[in-house]
This record gives sequence, structure tokens and C-alpha cells, in this order.
Amino acid sequence: MAKEFYISRMDSKVADTIAAVQLALDKRLVKSVRTQRKVICVPGCRDEIIAGNISIKSLKHEYRYEDCSSSPSSINSRSLSIEGTYRIVDIRQEDAPLTNLRTQTLEGLRQPRNQKYLPSLLLWGDEGQQLYDEIVRSKHYYPYRVESELLKLKVGDIARKIASTGSDVLLELGAGNMEKTGLILRHLDALDTPLTYYALDVDHTALEYALKSLQDSLKLRNINLCALQGTYEDAAKWLATSEEARGRKKTIAWLGNSIANLEQGEAGDLLGRFSEAQGVECLQGFIIGIDGCQDVSRINKAYDIPGGATRRWVRYALKAGRLQLGPEADAVLHDDNWQWAAAWNPGNHRYENYLTARKTLTATIDGTMVKIEEGERLHTLSSGKWTRSDVDRMCSPQGLVLADIWSSPDVGYGIYWLQPAE
Ligand SMILES: C[S@@+](CC[C@H](N)C(=O)[O-])C[C@H]1O[C@@H](n2cnc3c(N)ncnc32)[C@H](O)[C@@H]1O
Repeated sequence: MAKEFYISRMDSKVADTIAAVQLALDKRLVKSVRTQRKVICVPGCRDEIIAGNISIKSLKHEYRYEDCSSSPSSINSRSLSIEGTYRIVDIRQEDAPLTNLRTQTLEGLRQPRNQKYLPSLLLWGDEGQQLYDEIVRSKHYYPYRVESELLKLKVGDIARKIASTGSDVLLELGAGNMEKTGLILRHLDALDTPLTYYALDVDHTALEYALKSLQDSLKLRNINLCALQGTYEDAAKWLATSEEARGRKKTIAWLGNSIANLEQGEAGDLLGRFSEAQGVECLQGFIIGIDGCQDVSRINKAYDIPGGATRRWVRYALKAGRLQLGPEADAVLHDDNWQWAAAWNPGNHRYENYLTARKTLTATIDGTMVKIEEGERLHTLSSGKWTRSDVDRMCSPQGLVLADIWSSPDVGYGIYWLQPAE
């Protein structure tokens, strides 16, 4: 608990870091704080906290915090070294959605009738990740199970494919619990393929736990582990600008049908940006897990699992929204005001999660009136179910070709290998 408490704030503004460290000291969540360069004194703190390098001993780990914002190549990144074994690098940019989640949340509530939304990023904080983990353990949630089974079956081919490209970077977008990635890394390691695995995700705690368990369970000899905290957008920027990424051959993995949380056009544009960011000669290929199931009854069961974990997860966006917006938003985002509602949208090939207002709701937030009518819908997250032709349509405008596919015939789940056209 201790480290989650303040480390999640470590990489935001220095002032927040100081406040968080101070509180952590007060609550005896950390053992000690050591600083290397005195800049700012915090009254009452046992030590002086600075805007430079900070060493913190928590009850479990030792963290080193480096403020590298003065370095031109670092995109305002700061890195936390944990016990010297793997790094978690904060690549969030100042104006990016993750850092401006509050603004985005308010923006979503100000949209016209039935276009209102809560940003899906709200679902992926610590608590949201735990709820999602509960969902993937359910036998009804077939996407996770089917992709895992497919990977177990085809992991030799997939690892050989990655190794054959000579990639020395494997970047995974939205890495989550990394359980499935572990299968691929184990095989790559056995092929004596030296590379660095970069796990990108938005949530620091999730990255930390997942990397630690990968490291403990796999004992890799040829693969370095590193995590990037940020969004897909931040990762595209990082690829384009960081010294660390420049000139290295890369494979990008995107598993778990996460790509289909985006609209098809948006997803295609993002793939295009990833290709451009590295220079086509560096991009070896994308390996992307996409759910193409068209069996509506199976989909309905998977997205409303018995026991209600999916509903709790979707509702969690309300709590996360309240945390972003503060007490002013309670009148609108209080849990009792909303009913869970979700539906398969056949036109868009996607399952859409909504909350519906039980009554007309109003609040004044940051001086602006927010009004939601009774029965109005608030969108949270969609999960697309894309067929092979959808994938073709998405990737060809980006100069990518579908070069290989490993699929599960009964459900229509595919693991696609996309690469730059010759
Ligand atoms: C559907 S889960 C998939 C997790 C994992 N890849 C798997 O297959 O089990 C989506 C993951 O993407 C992350 N994520 C969601 N939106 C993101 C964004 N905009 N940028 C980076 N990561 C994101 C979430 O935190 C979550 O871990």
C-alpha cells in the first residue's frame, strides 16, 4: 500500500511529489527519504525534498527519482529505478490526455445529448485494473481465454517470427498484467534473441507488479525489461524523439483486443503514426490480437458476466470521474444516479458500454453548468469485433500489409502480423 500511495504521484508535478512524500513520511509509509541536491525545503519534513534526485526507501523497495526535465531528448520524462533490476520510465507529456484527465472528463460531460462520455482512461487506474483482472478470470470472458489458448498453441511460430526480423526492441502497447506476453518472452529468450522488452501502460502500479512477476517467474537471460508509463500517443512521441529508441529495429505488440477499444479509423491512424515515428526501416512488424467474434449471444455473456464484475467495472468510471472532478461533480456522477446499460451495435461491429441517467442531473463544475437529462447516455468504453476484412481496411491506407494470421476458427479471434508493404 505504501508505495502505491505516493509513487503514483511521484511523476506528476514536483509540488505534488513533495506533498505526497511528505504525507507518506507522516503516515510512516516510507522509512526514509534521501536527497542529492537541495532545492526546496519542506517544513516539518525529516529531510529536504528537492526538484532534483530523490531516493526513497519504502517498506519494500528502494526507489530513485530522477527529474530529467532539463534534458532536451527526454520529453519531460522522469525515471524511477527500482532495485536496479528494471526501469519504469515516465513518458507522459504535459498536455497529454493522461495528465489532463480532469479536463477531458469535464469535456465529456459537456457534450451534446447522447454524445456525452467518460474517458476510457478513467477505467485503467489501480482499482479499475483490479476489477478488469477479475473479469478476465471469468470463464465467460472468452477474449482473454481464447487469446491465451491461441498464444500457447502458436507461441513457437510467433516467437520465431519476431526473432527472424532481428528486432532488438519489443514494445507492447497496453501491456496490462503481461501474463500472455510472458509466454512470448520465454520463447524468445530460449531462442537466444537478445532484446529489450518495453511494456507500455498508463498505470504505474500495474506496470510495477506485472514486471516484477515477469521477472520473478521467467528468469530471463537474454531479455532486458523496461516499462514506459504513458498512453499510446505518448509512446508514439517517445519512439519519434527518444535517443533510446532511435535506429533500433522494433516489433510492436498490441494484445487483448485493446486496439478495438478505439474506432477503426482512429486505430489505423495510430498504427500509421507508430510506423512513421520510427522510420519504416526500423519497424519490423506489429503483432496484434483482435477479436472477430460475431456470435452476439457469446459476446453478451462475456460483457456482462455473472456476479456483476463487468457492471462494477463500468460503474467504476463514475467513481474515477468524481475523483478527478472533486465534490462539485457529486451531484451528477453519484453512483445512484446511473443505471448500467450496454448493447451490441451491429452497424459498428462493437459492444458499447453505457450508463443511463435515472433522472435529470445538474451541477456547476469549474463555474460551468453541466446538465444531463433523464434517460441520457454516458459512453464509457466500446469493444470492437473486427473481421479480417476490417483489419485489411484499417491497415492498407497506412502502408501496412497483413502478412500472417494465427486464428482461432471457432471464435474468430486472430493474432495478426502486420508489416510495412515492400
Ligand atoms: C484490454 S486491456 C489488455 C491488457 C493486456 N494487453 C492483455 O492482453 O491482457 C487494455 C490495457 O491497455 C491499457 N490502456 C488503455 N488505454 C490506454 C492508452 N490510451 N494508452 C496506453 N495504455 C492504455 C490499460 O491500462 C490496460 O492495461
